[in-house]
Amino acid sequence: MNFHVLTLFPEAFDGVKHSMIKRAMDDEKISINTVYIRDFAINSRRQTDDYPYGGGAGMIIRPEPIYDAWQSLNLPKSRVVYLTPSGKVFNQALAQELSQETDLILLCGHYEGIDQRIIDEIVTDEISIGDYVLTGGELAAMVVIDAVARLVQDVIKPESLAHESFSDGLLEYPQYTRPTEFLGRKVPEILLSGHHGEIAKWRHEKALESTSRKRPDLLREKL
Ligand code: ADE
Repeated sequence: MNFHVLTLFPEAFDGVKHSMIKRAMDDEKISINTVYIRDFAINSRRQTDDYPYGGGAGMIIRPEPIYDAWQSLNLPKSRVVYLTPSGKVFNQALAQELSQETDLILLCGHYEGIDQRIIDEIVTDEISIGDYVLTGGELAAMVVIDAVARLVQDVIKPESLAHESFSDGLLEYPQYTRPTEFLGRKVPEILLSGHHGEIAKWRHEKALESTSRKRPDLLREKL
């Protein structure tokens, strides 16, 4: 899967190229291609933003540099995600859906936003990563890349994805490793028993318990 990011801060994306994501890039399961919007500036002063019509604080990114940056990709049929606090709130189901795409274009806004006409013309999805305002779309795009990339086929073993949080609409059950006792806290006996059926039942109960305590809204969604 190829991520193409339209951004005024391409260097920010070095921050996501570590660990599992770096391995997936090295193995050519994914690629992250940044397109520097300023390379498509409207004049020799490298201008990309301008004052808002109607007045108001801050600057707005003009439509032409974004449009030209998008056209340079030559992917007219690919989904274009604009990262914005006004978008649909990102979740695991949406990450799963996006992981099926071959090419995904991510558009990062900055300053006070981008000209509405570029949204109307090229954007297919508006996504928010939560109900708070960031200084720009870059961190949000990295969140989306990280969550989507790990779901791309062969990036992670399917067994590792099977029981993680949200995979079945529940939070994950608690996990333990050695030692069997730490600061007086013991690993639950059942996990040492070797009874796979009983262990699976216990884990499901713990997942339900944890979800109902920390995220009761997820249980209501399942009803
Ligand atoms: N840009 C600024 N804030 C954002 C948010 N919460 N989600 C996505 N993009 C954003």
